[in-house]
Amino acid sequence: MTTTSNAAFPKHFIWGVATSAFQIEGASEADGKGPSIWDDFCRIPGAIQDASDGRVACDHYHRWETDLDLVADLGVDAYRFSVSWPRVQPLGSGAFNEKGFEFYERLVDGMLARGLKPYLTLNHWDLPSALQATGGWENRDTVQCYVDYACEVARHLGDRVASICTHNEPWVVAVLGHESGIFAPGIKSRAVAIQVAHHLFLSHGIAVTAMRAQGCKADMGIVLNLSPINPATDFDADRAAARRADGGGLRWYVEPLLKGEYPADVLEDLGADAPKVLPGDMAKIKVPIDFLGVNYYMRSVVSAGEPWDVKASGHEITDMGWEVYPQGLTELLLRLHRDYTLPPIYITENGAAFKDEVINGQVHDRRRQKYIENHIAAVLAAMRQGVRVNGYFVWSLLDNFEWSSGYAKRFGIVRVDYATQERTLKDSALWYRAFLAAEKRKGL
Ligand code: FCB
Repeated sequence: MTTTSNAAFPKHFIWGVATSAFQIEGASEADGKGPSIWDDFCRIPGAIQDASDGRVACDHYHRWETDLDLVADLGVDAYRFSVSWPRVQPLGSGAFNEKGFEFYERLVDGMLARGLKPYLTLNHWDLPSALQATGGWENRDTVQCYVDYACEVARHLGDRVASICTHNEPWVVAVLGHESGIFAPGIKSRAVAIQVAHHLFLSHGIAVTAMRAQGCKADMGIVLNLSPINPATDFDADRAAARRADGGGLRWYVEPLLKGEYPADVLEDLGADAPKVLPGDMAKIKVPIDFLGVNYYMRSVVSAGEPWDVKASGHEITDMGWEVYPQGLTELLLRLHRDYTLPPIYITENGAAFKDEVINGQVHDRRRQKYIENHIAAVLAAMRQGVRVNGYFVWSLLDNFEWSSGYAKRFGIVRVDYATQERTLKDSALWYRAFLAAEKRKGL
């Protein structure tokens, strides 16, 4: 792998760190916040590996000022965070909660005061429970509720944030939330998952148009989790399986947004599970976007027979069981660049969970540091081959609530001691800070 030592990122390149509301805020009932589907999901026995929940998490709701100090101290340009919908609109429709908005206004002003560009995500999965009670994302009415919520957030914060992302990882909401059911709301139906994906896309398109019509000037886009999908062998059966997986995992998500159509081969595979699409939907979905966010963690290797064993790769494996494969990020970016007319790309999440040890108050997380370093190099390699990438965000600023893994998996470049809420910069954070300082010197 190339190193980043001679890296030459353009001056305007945005460096950042990312978090999401449910994973760090805690304060799950404070100041009028309503419950979300993740609050509910955590109560299902066995749903969360360590039987934990988001009631306290990193207590960021109360510690936001010192957390922002930490972000600023890293020397990044931007902070990617999400707004909790039920915090600002407890039932997901009807009355808004001003106290909730006050929190995000303080947070955004706090970023600006520290010279940080706010990158806001509207939906990082914590749908208000009241909307799930009427069908959640499966119900087309949720689209309009979301658009109203998005417009209200834009009214409060749209003049101060640099960027608004409508949805984080629709694939996860659709497939993990509604097909495998391992994430909230825990539904297990492919037909529902596909309809959910369609409603997420539709709400994205309508919300972007509506926020812009209201005069909001922030950049607007969406974040997808994408992987290059390689066949396990060159045999026809594996190649066909990989093509199907690429259809369902990548093309199904990219093509409605960028081309205004669903891939024909996937529609055919879906048969009776194909989504209900009303006339005009696809044109609304295809609204021009200012950026496409890409979250990259690993590649996917597909076989027609027995599932591919990640250990067979011989590569390092993270604490999530994910293969470390930085060149996959270059491959992915080149492929997107080759096959589509892309808006500017941001790598909106990239990082790794490893088991950390605190030794004399320090965390020597060399594997995480290397992971980040090698993936930054992989981004640069793609940029040198013509891909327009405008920024890179480490996932994550803090160790946090890793969804169904609870607090067992640590992605932070800053360690959180959950008993005391003490924060400790890991070596990866110290490295990132030094790397950014060197980058800034080169740019002078
Ligand atoms: C992504 C999520 C993020 C985090 C990382 C590890 O799928 O967007 O919240 O959980 O994975």
